[in-house]
Amino acid sequence: MNQNLSPAAEANTYDDDAIVNPSANAHMNQLLAARLSRRQALRGGVSVTAGVLLGSTALTACGGGNDDDDTATETPQALRLGFDAVAKNLDDRVTVPAGYQVSILHALGDPLHWGDASWKDDGSESAQSYERRVGDGHDGMHWFGLSEAGTFEVNRSDRGLLCVNHEYVVGPYVLHASGRTVADNVRTVPAEVEKEIYAHGVSVCEVRRGASGTAVSMVRGSRFNRRVTSATEMDIAGPARGSALMVTKFSPTGVRTRGTNNNCANGYTPWGTYLTCEENFLNVIARAAGDDAARTLKEVDALKRYGLPEGRRSPYLWNTAGSDDLFARWTSSVVGASAAEDYRNVFNTFGWVVEIDPFNPDAAPVKRTALGRFNHEGAWPAPAVAGQPLVWYMGDDARNEYIYKFVSRAVWDPADVGRGLAAGAKYLDEGTLYVAKFNADGSGQWIELTHGKNGLTATNTTYAFADQADVVTHARLAGDVVGATKMDRPEWGAVNPRNGEAYMTLTNNNSSNRVDPASTAALTGRQARPDAANPRFYDDGEGNKSNPNGHIIRWREAGNSVAATTFAWDIYLFGAEGDAAADVNLSGLTAVNDFSSPDGLCFDARGLLWIQTDDGAYTDVTNCMMLAAVPGQVGDGGAVTAAGGTATIKGANATAETVRRFLVGPRECEITGIAMTPDHKTLFINVQHPGEDGSLAAPTSHWPDSQVNPASTKRPRSATVVVTRTDGGTIGA
Ligand code: FEO
Ligand code: CA
Ligand code: CA
Ligand code: CA
Repeated sequence: MNQNLSPAAEANTYDDDAIVNPSANAHMNQLLAARLSRRQALRGGVSVTAGVLLGSTALTACGGGNDDDDTATETPQALRLGFDAVAKNLDDRVTVPAGYQVSILHALGDPLHWGDASWKDDGSESAQSYERRVGDGHDGMHWFGLSEAGTFEVNRSDRGLLCVNHEYVVGPYVLHASGRTVADNVRTVPAEVEKEIYAHGVSVCEVRRGASGTAVSMVRGSRFNRRVTSATEMDIAGPARGSALMVTKFSPTGVRTRGTNNNCANGYTPWGTYLTCEENFLNVIARAAGDDAARTLKEVDALKRYGLPEGRRSPYLWNTAGSDDLFARWTSSVVGASAAEDYRNVFNTFGWVVEIDPFNPDAAPVKRTALGRFNHEGAWPAPAVAGQPLVWYMGDDARNEYIYKFVSRAVWDPADVGRGLAAGAKYLDEGTLYVAKFNADGSGQWIELTHGKNGLTATNTTYAFADQADVVTHARLAGDVVGATKMDRPEWGAVNPRNGEAYMTLTNNNSSNRVDPASTAALTGRQARPDAANPRFYDDGEGNKSNPNGHIIRWREAGNSVAATTFAWDIYLFGAEGDAAADVNLSGLTAVNDFSSPDGLCFDARGLLWIQTDDGAYTDVTNCMMLAAVPGQVGDGGAVTAAGGTATIKGANATAETVRRFLVGPRECEITGIAMTPDHKTLFINVQHPGEDGSLAAPTSHWPDSQVNPASTKRPRSATVVVTRTDGGTIGA
């Protein structure tokens, strides 16, 4: 995400690019003496049967279901991209291939129910109405088929519930009448803050496809339509439930809290619930000057590791809008006699994976703490297999942070489909959290983050872990202790339904964090040198050194077992400009598929991989985009030396047949969030922050109105886009 903040707030902007990892974990350069020859052995060992997972409950990231007649022995059809590449462009519209069309499902401020007026385009909507309107900053999303009985129907394509994250307030000039009202770092119009609190979170809406097959629209007034906001009451479950770390004035027993915030990407469960993930929660939490003196040294260490030093003003300044609890709760400071009398612990109540049952609008969301606390981008499941544990892969989106996986203790029972949050308690509250270590030879380890193991004890000298609540709440510190690998900003993940291999985007990094491999200067803070898993160091031509274009890493679990603790990895694809030097453009990208800063990622049920970008490096040439790809498998490329001199292992080069640009977004947007109906005939994508560098006085985009009205003067808004083929056919392949 990027943010437009008022000038007053900019003085203390939280940047999701900032790093706060001071650990001195080993960098892979130290391990580069290791041979790459093991790759050859691994390549020979690739024996995963295509389609081996097709017999599972393979609801995939894009929402595609599984045909009931799929079996483990069926040979899947060869996949071929079936569209002409879209050219890079700077137009203020969504561009799709010939034979495709787009429409808007919903945009910021659209009413979900009857009784609220339509968006007026002047910011005059009331704060309270956002408890019933579509929120801002559309991001991750998921499609859940909806049966006539109002229950989860995995393979339904013409009726469903679309859950959409509303990550943040994009360009306050859009939401309010005339930008934020701020005086001396104080929000002097509480109603503006209240509106922002309700514009964050998640929307759930019913969607129907008409008989034409291409007309797809939101069902206004559906009983399933719902907003979850930064004020919604929710439960805390898992190891941190009832912990002293969760005690607040709102919940003196530490079992409940209010709000989900900065919901970036997402996940989902095979039983039919939505997982929304809390990323840049530092946006909204402040801490008073002098608060360190009221804290233990251990608390100060933990707050610092998560980026909240004393005296930190929150960029959104929500805490300054008044003494009302709605606002005061956003200061994580000691002001009362005990934690039950203030909000010193409010910071600990964000950074989690939150489960929402879209089929039960009355059910309070649940924070599933067993999956750890960090800048959660999302939580991506491997296909569920009966009798096997369930697995979610997760990234911590900040520079030089880690990749995690959660393995459930309970094994999957398909009878749990439709059991909602009760199934969530079964699979998401007990299990094992791991963090990833990528070795230079193409092998890797999942290191267990369980109290009492791997040094995660009360006597640890880095951080004294009191119990498992402490471990999950401070997963970053646990990752530091066990030597996890610092990554170039982990964003989305996805699991290939054809072979079980997991992919994760590493969007980019810069030289203040991943420093020149040729230098011998001592590393400070969380700095690291390039390593095999994050290998490139080069200048993008505008002074941004390191890895400005990002890459996509992938791994195959040992024995193709989701619960394995070792894996083999390579780098599937390197983002690059097509005319970049060969040691930068390591995947051989050309005009039909060159891209920068991969972010959104998802496999549909056919095994087609969709790649979305959130870029600032190639935006002089093209707006952000989405590509479709037919990936190979770990080990289909070979050893290579990246710009800067670091050795790594890459996948097979991209060709026009294997990676192709499908869509380009409007100006200054990010393309993020993807959902596909199970029949692959309706594709949903989100456009976030169009025109983010503009202002009311000097707008730079008028999308989505500009999609149909090139002379539009309306405000730009984040929105969900529906993509269909004009002939109603299947999309992409
Ligand atoms: Fe909200 Fe990591 O992007
Ligand atoms: Ca962005
Ligand atoms: Ca993202
Ligand atoms: Ca991003």
